[in-house]
Amino acid sequence: MRYSIRRFQKMRDDGKPIPMMTAYDYTSAYAVEKAGVPIILVGDSLGQVVLGHDSTVPVTMDDMIRHIQMVVRSTEKAHIIGDLPFMSYQISNEDAIRNAGRLLKEGGCQSVKLEGGSSVAKTIKKMVQVGIPVMGHLGLTPQSVNQIGGYRVQGRSSSEAKTLLDDALEIQEAGAYAIVLELVSAEVAEMVTDKLSVPVIGIGSGVGCSGQVQVFHDILGLIPNFSPKHARRYAEVGTIIQNAVESYVSDVMDRRFPSPEESF
Ligand code: KIV
Repeated sequence: MRYSIRRFQKMRDDGKPIPMMTAYDYTSAYAVEKAGVPIILVGDSLGQVVLGHDSTVPVTMDDMIRHIQMVVRSTEKAHIIGDLPFMSYQISNEDAIRNAGRLLKEGGCQSVKLEGGSSVAKTIKKMVQVGIPVMGHLGLTPQSVNQIGGYRVQGRSSSEAKTLLDDALEIQEAGAYAIVLELVSAEVAEMVTDKLSVPVIGIGSGVGCSGQVQVFHDILGLIPNFSPKHARRYAEVGTIIQNAVESYVSDVMDRRFPSPEESF
């Protein structure tokens, strides 16, 4: 049985921090679950770190379904969240429910995440009414990068902080079971976390949130020359891979590979 959304509420109520992480394919999700992550996000950040786009905007429903399926196939216990991609939920509530339903039915995830505050509150309410658990996403909302004009810290002025809190309260009221807060100052994120009764999962939003989420490639050092300020690089896997492949290339070129033991 996979972790349920009730379990995350209990962790939050008991004051236990919730570790969440992204994964996008069979192999990465296997390692993430084995390492003890109870909640895995198949984020539309796959548009950048897997598909090589420069934002999440081009990601499609088919991209999401395919990657959610890979993650679901290699995990047993983790709760899998599928991101609803740009324009899959903004046009109408019917569209939103149909597309969220596809992520659950075809992808196999247990809940979905979408970006926005009061503008999506009614959509969240409808989705929850038909049995789809929804995680909200406020602060920096990468699908609106063309509107925001870049990836920068949100909620800095007191009026922005108030709007953020109002949005968070509205989507909680609409039925969101948890909310991601991205790139919000630590002080404002802690204030929002304290005022809400559902778990608040931070990314670049300080230690006062109920949990933390990070992108697989960021904390493992998979992308050379790119490291967001909020990501601690726990390993330099990109360099390890490159060094290993260089050794393979020189072994092949010098006829050191394969050895007799590796031959038939
Ligand atoms: O797509 C994603 O990876 C996300 C996280 C940054 C929260 O939405």
